[in-house]
Amino acid sequence: MATGRIAEILRTGKPGEAVTVQGWVRTKRELKEFTFVEVNDGSCMANLQVVLNPDLTDYAAILRQLNTGASVEVVGEIVSSPAKGQRIELKADTVQVYGEADPQTYVLQKKRHSFEFLRTIAHLRSRTNTYGAVFRVRNACAAAVHQFFQERGFLWIHTPIITASDCEGAGELFSVTSLDLNNLPLTDTKAIDFSQDFFGKRAFLTVSGQLEAEIMALAFGNVYTFGPTFRAENSNTSRHLAEFWMIEPEMAFCDLDGNMDLAEAFLKHIFKSVLEQCPEDLEFFNQRIDNSVLATADNIINNEFERITYTEAIALLEKSDRTFEYPVSWGLDLQSEHERYLAEELFKKPVIVTDYPQEIKAFYMRQNEDGKTVRAMDVLAPKVGEIIGGSQREERLDILQKRMEALQINPDELWWYLDLRRYGTVPHAGFGLGFERVVQFMTGMANIRDVIPFPRAPQTIDF
Ligand code: 4AD
Ligand code: MG
Repeated sequence: MATGRIAEILRTGKPGEAVTVQGWVRTKRELKEFTFVEVNDGSCMANLQVVLNPDLTDYAAILRQLNTGASVEVVGEIVSSPAKGQRIELKADTVQVYGEADPQTYVLQKKRHSFEFLRTIAHLRSRTNTYGAVFRVRNACAAAVHQFFQERGFLWIHTPIITASDCEGAGELFSVTSLDLNNLPLTDTKAIDFSQDFFGKRAFLTVSGQLEAEIMALAFGNVYTFGPTFRAENSNTSRHLAEFWMIEPEMAFCDLDGNMDLAEAFLKHIFKSVLEQCPEDLEFFNQRIDNSVLATADNIINNEFERITYTEAIALLEKSDRTFEYPVSWGLDLQSEHERYLAEELFKKPVIVTDYPQEIKAFYMRQNEDGKTVRAMDVLAPKVGEIIGGSQREERLDILQKRMEALQINPDELWWYLDLRRYGTVPHAGFGLGFERVVQFMTGMANIRDVIPFPRAPQTIDF
């Protein structure tokens, strides 16, 4: 007899079939004639209702052990359920309790907890309905990412986590140390030379795999990364993490238009695929978390994204009768409130903003003919703001060298990056999608710390 997953049993199980299920008790309801136990195994939102009859061996002892949170294996027979809202239930023949959960101390009782509280028990919160749904959707998103690129012949490449370069030039780097901290007086941090950390060299946790992805694109054509990235920005917002996952496609023989087309097709594919894979979970988010979740998905899939230049965006913002907290003027970066205004209120769909001023973008972006703007693109989404950042890259050696000089970037540290422009250079482009931002977008979860199992952010590192 096979051990079944509850999602599968609820979908296809037939009365009379014998099954074994393994999971955790959600609730127990003791009646005179029998006891109902709701068991969840993480495979779906729904619980399987297990019916325990008093003629079960050790009935009384088992009931005492079967509290919320206990782990259990039930062997039994599927029967039609007389109860409303469920087709079948499981009549238990044997019940084995693996681990009890003391009702006096186990915190995940029936009452609802705030997300703030649940964040402090990240080792248990995955057993709740909301986080169960979040992490199933997260998994479906990840599968959709690979499916999208693999179907299009992109090579999945693995870029280093420990790196010597600051791709974004924003100075938001975590330092990596190989020093033997056991032999250092930790109170005297001045004794540590952070510029010589990594076996005598300077090293950081990567902020982006882009520069390495460019190397690989110039050999394989189309590639993508999907891995963790790190930013030491001390921002306590609902959209920033110190450790987040990023997907970065990079395409040789590609310009900004091709880049925008890929970004749009990519987001549409992710939404479509997750709608297919996790309809019940998305329904749950729509009912319980944010009632625009399904409409948003529909909007993404069925509408063409708006495409405007930064200069047009500034004009639209200046023209609007909204008062913004942050100033708007040509040359200043767009703040989250501006991004959300454009996507959420003005266009009511994702907006791709291109051709930002050079001064507010990274060194590697391709300079436009006007000498002031670069071939940048940001995809702005309702609710979350910037979800994708990308650009066509500067493939011309002389212009790149001038730009690096102006920004005082040492060419000796990026000699290999310059080499790519010396040997077989080609127009190329790519972007980075913040994985947690897309999961946030899809689920309607307000805080980014609630869409990654173990969030790393200021004041958030217990394990
Ligand atoms: O716009 P960013 O900084 O772009 C890059 O890193 C480029 N090298 C990407 C490329 O062209 N290959 O970051 C890309 C995306 C952002 O649009 C955002 O969705 C996400 O990464 N992101 C963050 N997500 C969570 N927490 C943070 N601290 C994030 N910083 C950026
Ligand atoms: Mg950006």
